[in-house]
Amino acid sequence: MPASDAPRFLQLHRPDTEALRTELTEGLLATPARAEPKFFYDRLGSCLFDAITELGEYYPTRTEAGIFDAGIADMARVLPPAAVLIDLGAGNCAKAARLFAPLQVGAYVAVDISVDFLRHTLAALQQRHPALPMLGLGLDFSQTLALPDAAQEWLATQHRAQAPRCVFYPGSSIGNFTPERALALLRQAHALCRAGGPGGGLLIGVDQVKDHGVLQAAYDDALGVTAAFNRNLLLHVNALLGSDFAPARWRHVAFYNSAESRIEMHLESDGAQTVRWPGGERRFVAGERLHTENSYKWTPERFRSLLTAAGFGPATHWSDPRGWFSVFWAPV
Ligand code: AVI
Repeated sequence: MPASDAPRFLQLHRPDTEALRTELTEGLLATPARAEPKFFYDRLGSCLFDAITELGEYYPTRTEAGIFDAGIADMARVLPPAAVLIDLGAGNCAKAARLFAPLQVGAYVAVDISVDFLRHTLAALQQRHPALPMLGLGLDFSQTLALPDAAQEWLATQHRAQAPRCVFYPGSSIGNFTPERALALLRQAHALCRAGGPGGGLLIGVDQVKDHGVLQAAYDDALGVTAAFNRNLLLHVNALLGSDFAPARWRHVAFYNSAESRIEMHLESDGAQTVRWPGGERRFVAGERLHTENSYKWTPERFRSLLTAAGFGPATHWSDPRGWFSVFWAPV
């Protein structure tokens, strides 16, 4: 395997500001009004999310980390060595980097919406792992998930044209998709793994259904960090759309909807108000809500069925002692 002195970067996703404005306008004019959770993540939103993961109430991040710490030797026995690790929503790449040595990863593909987020991190990571080929891929995988030809060529020269592919999707990010969209994404993940030949699969973190009080507190913390994260969406929307949302006039609302097995986050108007943007406006009555996020919680049984429906073989499952969070390995 040739040693890599610098990571390679491919940017495939081009942000389409006009399409984002159209999507936002449609959501704001709908009844009830809505905005997709992707609008949480401007620079400040990403910092606030990092802060959320430090909160006592927000158990998913540290519970998942504990499952990996306790189960990594076991995982190394089940997952194929020298695989290509394809990290969806890689961010700071920290979760994947902890797997490099124990899983004897053969090549690393970090996927995020923009390679700009990945440049600094991957360069630093390459210094620590000089022999591991690394590729940063700027891709909106919530739309389509496939390796472009240039990435295949890179793999063929840097590692092997055919090698088991492990798609890594931690953090219960799958929970932010409806079950229908989650199934569509998992089907694409299955096709991506299968294209690498036998031995590959999906390593995924999924938050479980649990005591409603625990869930509620995780999304409505005492310090109000999640409230700030939710309200910051309005500032991001103002920047994208030129709207005049006043965040102070919107109350953070989070609750568990047991019929749908999901946490819902909303912003509630403190009184009658009109929000305006170039070419449009929306009148909100007192108490009217803007729906900003769903975070679905799964039982292990239901998630296993979803994996099967997506085409995966029988999954191996790890959990924490309280049964709050799951990590699944689903082979192709
Ligand atoms: C990114 N995602 C998995 C988080 C979640 O738990 O659904 C986003 C989040 N929203 C509020 N707190 C955290």
